[in-house]
Amino acid sequence: SLPDKTSFSWKSPSNIALIKYWGKTDPQMPKNASISFTLTKSYTETKVYFTKNYLKKKSDISVTLDGQKMDSFVPKIEQFLERINYFTPYLSQYNLEIITKNSFPHSSGIASSASGMSALALCIMSLEKELNPFLVESFFKQKASFLARLGSGSACRSVEGELVVWGKHKDIDHSSDLFGIKFSEETDPVFQAYQDCILLVDKGEKVVSSTVGHNLMIDHPYAEQRFNQANQNLARLVSVLKSGDLENFISIVESEALSLHAMMLTSNPYFILMKPNTLKVIEKIWRYRKDTGVPVCFTLDAGANVHVLYPKKWKEDVNQFIELELAKYCQNNHMIWDQAGMGAAPV
Ligand code: PMV
Repeated sequence: SLPDKTSFSWKSPSNIALIKYWGKTDPQMPKNASISFTLTKSYTETKVYFTKNYLKKKSDISVTLDGQKMDSFVPKIEQFLERINYFTPYLSQYNLEIITKNSFPHSSGIASSASGMSALALCIMSLEKELNPFLVESFFKQKASFLARLGSGSACRSVEGELVVWGKHKDIDHSSDLFGIKFSEETDPVFQAYQDCILLVDKGEKVVSSTVGHNLMIDHPYAEQRFNQANQNLARLVSVLKSGDLENFISIVESEALSLHAMMLTSNPYFILMKPNTLKVIEKIWRYRKDTGVPVCFTLDAGANVHVLYPKKWKEDVNQFIELELAKYCQNNHMIWDQAGMGAAPV
C-alpha cells in the first residue's frame, strides 16, 4: 500500500552530447540516435515530498528552486505529469512539493532541463518502488530514463554514466528510442573520466528554446540528410570509442557540433547561436592543437557556450592552456571544470 507522506531525494548530473539529438516526433521520440558523456559537477539535486491527496483527482504542485518559490515552473511540471500519468497512475493521488537546486548558477547558460527532469523522474521511481518493493534495479533505472525522456528528451541520458546512447541504432544492441542505455562495449581507457571544461561565453537566455529548435527540423530542407549523418557518425564513433583513435574522435565530435549549428543557420526562421567569442575560442583550440599535438577539441550545445573536451592524461597541460588563453573569453572568467562520471545517485 502507498504511504500517506514520504519524501525522496536524488542528485542527477547534466550531460554533453557527442552525437547530437536535434529533431523529434511526438512523444519525444528522437529522429536519430545520440550519445553523450554524463557529467559530474554540473548537477541538479531534487527532493520531492509526496503527500497523499484524498479529496482531489489532480495533484497540487509546488516548486522551489535555490530557495525561491517558482510558480512559473508549475505548468511545465503539470504537463510532464500529465504525459507520464498513464505509466505512473499512483502519482495522481499525491501532492508534490518539489525542492530543487542546481550546482551551477541559475541562468548561467547551462541547461538544467536534463539534470532536473532526470532527478525528478528518479524521485518518482523511488515512490513507485515503495509500491512495488520487488522492482529490480535495472528496471528502476530504465523506467526512470523513460520517464525523464518524456520531460526533456536529453534527460534520459542523465540517469547513468559514463557514456549513454539514446535512440535505436543498428550497431548498438538494445538501443531504444524510449530510454537511454549505458554504452556497454569496452571503451579505450583514454575515454575514462574524460575532461569537459565548460566555458560560459554567454550567460544570456537561450535564443532558441529546444522545443522551437526541434520543431524547426520538421520542414527543414536538410533534415533527412542530417538524421542519416548523425546515425553514420554514431557508427563511426562506436569504433573510435573502442580503438581510442583520438584523431577521428575529434573530427566526429567537432563536426557534430558544427552540424547542429548549421541546422539552425539554415532553418526558417534562421538563427546564429554562436557569439564572436565562441569563434575566438574555437580558433584558439585549433591553433593550440596544431602547435602542440595535444588532442583537445570542442563541442557546442544549442547556444554560445563551448565545451572543451580532452583526455584526463592531458589535464595539466590543457587546464593551463584554458586558464591562459580561453578564460578571458568567458563572462566574468566563468568556467566549470567538469568531467565524465557515473550518473545519478540518491542523497
Ligand atoms: O533535451 P532537449 O529537448 O532540451 O534537446 C537537447 C538538444 C541538444 O542539447 C542541443 C543536443 C543533445 O543531444 O543534447
